[in-house]
Amino acid sequence: MIEQTLFIIKPDAYKEKLVGKIVTKIEESGFKIIKMTLKKLTRKEAENLYYVHRDRDFFEPLVLFILEAPIIALILERENAIEHLRGVIGKTNPKESEPGTIRALYGTNKSRNAVHASDSKESFIREVSVLFPSYSIT
Ligand code: CDP
Ligand code: MG
Repeated sequence: MIEQTLFIIKPDAYKEKLVGKIVTKIEESGFKIIKMTLKKLTRKEAENLYYVHRDRDFFEPLVLFILEAPIIALILERENAIEHLRGVIGKTNPKESEPGTIRALYGTNKSRNAVHASDSKESFIREVSVLFPSYSIT
């Protein structure tokens, strides 16, 4: 089934000038770019994006991290996009990620891990509402 997912290049990767390499890897992994934007989030947008983690002890550091610099958000499309992209990015902790995954290549640690990908259709819908508020999911 062709589906869409949401992908974010986080501030650590942006500051390290890894955007081009990461987007190349995404395209080589069979994804079509449907939407792409660079933006500096507001505090409210950052909190909404990570709403599910609001009670975790890493929530405040995570919000501050995502506000460090602009992020690049993309809506991507391919067969089985959500599950496939999670495989391409690797595990939350880059040190536990398969060699060749984006986090293994470009992440630093389990907080500063270069990229984000939706983990479910429900997350995709919430994340799109924060990052592409005028986009209507079909
Ligand atoms: O991003 P992913 O879905 O792999 O992991 P998550 O458990 O949904 O956590 C979201 C983000 O919070 C991670 O990508 C990390 O940036 C951050 N995090 C953290 O700083 N410390 C943790 N122990 C877990 C997550
Ligand atoms: Mg997650």
